[in-house]
Amino acid sequence: MLSRRAIVAGLGAAAAATYAGGLAAPSIARAAAPFTQPKLPYASDALAPTISAQTVDLHYGKHHAAYFKALNDLVPNTSYADMSLEEIVKASVKSEADRKIFNNAGQAWNHIFYWDQFKSGGATEPAGELKAAIDKDFGGLDALKTAMVKTGGDVFGSGWAWLVHDGSKLSLVGTPGGDSPFARGGKPLLGIDVWEHAYYLDYQNRRPDHVKAVLDKIVNWTVVAERMQA
Ligand SMILES: [Fe+2]
Repeated sequence: MLSRRAIVAGLGAAAAATYAGGLAAPSIARAAAPFTQPKLPYASDALAPTISAQTVDLHYGKHHAAYFKALNDLVPNTSYADMSLEEIVKASVKSEADRKIFNNAGQAWNHIFYWDQFKSGGATEPAGELKAAIDKDFGGLDALKTAMVKTGGDVFGSGWAWLVHDGSKLSLVGTPGGDSPFARGGKPLLGIDVWEHAYYLDYQNRRPDHVKAVLDKIVNWTVVAERMQA
């Protein structure tokens, strides 16, 4: 689901060192806590002015980092200790007792997915099967954007707006907190963070303006298409 770069970067330190040594990339199932936050795939000012460097520095350097730290503090000596990040997300989503582990694992995963889908220097355009699916299921890219802005606006409080593919059809869904379609077995293609930490410095309360700008200016539709094919 995540790119190989993100998966490798998110591996436990020992597994990552093995990969860096030139051996075959370990399977995700062997990567367990402690998890390492992947590096940003661009400079922190690369998404400006759509998302300012100040927001990226806080969002990646403080919020995303904090989810990793909390997860690494919570997981040892639990049934999740030998699981990959993806396995923890899926295994903990329905457990009320493990809500803190899920919240932090979900947010660690969601943000890797988030940073990976943007592009310095402006948006590409959907092409090929992705474009055809957007045309079929939404009536075009502009209609998809309008509907996704509404999905993001309809999330009450903190959460995410997702473009999802179920194998035959694209749809939109909003989720609260650290939840995601991925946690529940779905296949997200694009995830827009609508927590206030994602936009408040740049857009204050204007969440729809932020989501629209992100969709218009910085989505890497090539990555979205790759996710649909994966
Ligand atoms: Fe966030």
